[in-house]
Amino acid sequence: MADSIALLGSTGSIGVQTLDVARNLGIKVSALTAYSDIDLLEKQAREFRPPMVAIGDDTLAPELENRLKGLGIQVLSGPEGIRAAAAVDGVDKVVVAIVGIAGLLPTIEAIRNGRDVALANKETLVTAGHIVMAEAESRGVTVFPVDSEHSAVYQCLAGNRKQDVERLLLTASGGPFRGMGYDELRNVTAEQALKHPNWSMGSKITIDSATMMNKGLEVIEARWLFGFSPEKISVLVHPQSIIHSMVEYKDGSVIAQLGQPDMRIPIQLSLTWPERCANEFPRLDLIKSGVLTFEEPDMEKFRCLRLAYDALEEGGTMPAVLNGANEAAVKLFLEGRIGFCAIPQLIEKTMLAHEVNTSPELDDIIEVDKWAKRMVGDSVCI
Ligand SMILES: NC(=O)c1ccc[n+]([C@@H]2O[C@H](COP(=O)([O-])OP(=O)(O)OC[C@H]3O[C@@H](n4cnc5c(N)ncnc54)[C@H](OP(=O)(O)O)[C@@H]3O)[C@@H](O)[C@H]2O)c1
Repeated sequence: MADSIALLGSTGSIGVQTLDVARNLGIKVSALTAYSDIDLLEKQAREFRPPMVAIGDDTLAPELENRLKGLGIQVLSGPEGIRAAAAVDGVDKVVVAIVGIAGLLPTIEAIRNGRDVALANKETLVTAGHIVMAEAESRGVTVFPVDSEHSAVYQCLAGNRKQDVERLLLTASGGPFRGMGYDELRNVTAEQALKHPNWSMGSKITIDSATMMNKGLEVIEARWLFGFSPEKISVLVHPQSIIHSMVEYKDGSVIAQLGQPDMRIPIQLSLTWPERCANEFPRLDLIKSGVLTFEEPDMEKFRCLRLAYDALEEGGTMPAVLNGANEAAVKLFLEGRIGFCAIPQLIEKTMLAHEVNTSPELDDIIEVDKWAKRMVGDSVCI
């Protein structure tokens, strides 16, 4: 079990739940970071007393410093401050719970400093999986998944041989609009999209769940975490979110991992593996949860999932384009500037305009991300 962690993105949904786990297990916190929520960051710093905190928005650093005066906590700021927190001394694991591509460089920083990573941020592996996993391997660093689906796959693979796997089955709730026709989807609002049926999460991932881009990002994430080709990674809609994913083997056996839809379970496992620690989280009651159902995903209605498979197939910089365009389009949707169905349209348009670099370096990924975001912004302004 980790004795001490650095937690990047401590004020978000995963961040707050990670601190809940750390509190329950008595894990020390050596660094906390946020982008702009200094009220919550201050409160967390007062409780956990890390030697270091970092705030992404530079302009808020003087205020935070003032609030934490006398507590012996170093206050850093900006992207460099967050990277420094990723490399803080004396931690067993760096938990990356930042949202979006902003998580990429801090993850790389943690790995280059030889820190094991508990990775919630899926955009890191989506945009630069080949670089991140190669860096981790060369430095002997473990990247442990926090995402419930990947945590499930990790557990279902344990003790088995990779060559015996037929396919991974990632489950998806289908989001709040699963049963809707395409015409109805055109008129859904951000408020409706933010009401996920089973999980309580940050706004970006909740919209990604409604478009099913979240599952597309997870397919790409699984490709890099577990090293299987896209044909071996399937998606299965399972509206109850009780089975978190499965692995099918050559002999016809299917191993599944089940549990309550509670992110604290995979977060805790990422900090304790291979140990499993007792906790007071609600238990799964299969009698009460009732019938478990499964459906094929509709990739025509939820086009983002199809686009993610296409991007993975194309490879190189294309997944970073998919991700950057998605981040920009989701932001516009949350601001009420575009409709729900414009999200996949803008992503597709951006992907079509992109000339793939098949072996990108980190700088190329960062550039392509900016380009994709600009393209989406320009398409909407015209
Ligand atoms: N939530 C879930 O249940 C869940 C499940 C699986 C995977 N994930 C993945 O985990 C990641 C975090 O998700 P979340 O739902 O916890 O997101 P969230 O609630 O939006 O929290 C995001 C965190 O990142 C910080 N942040 C935002 N922009 C930043 C930037 N530019 N630089 C540095 N820090 C920044 C935020 O700080 P402020 O609060 O100050 O803005 C906050 O601490 C995402 O990649 C998501 O896909 C989430």
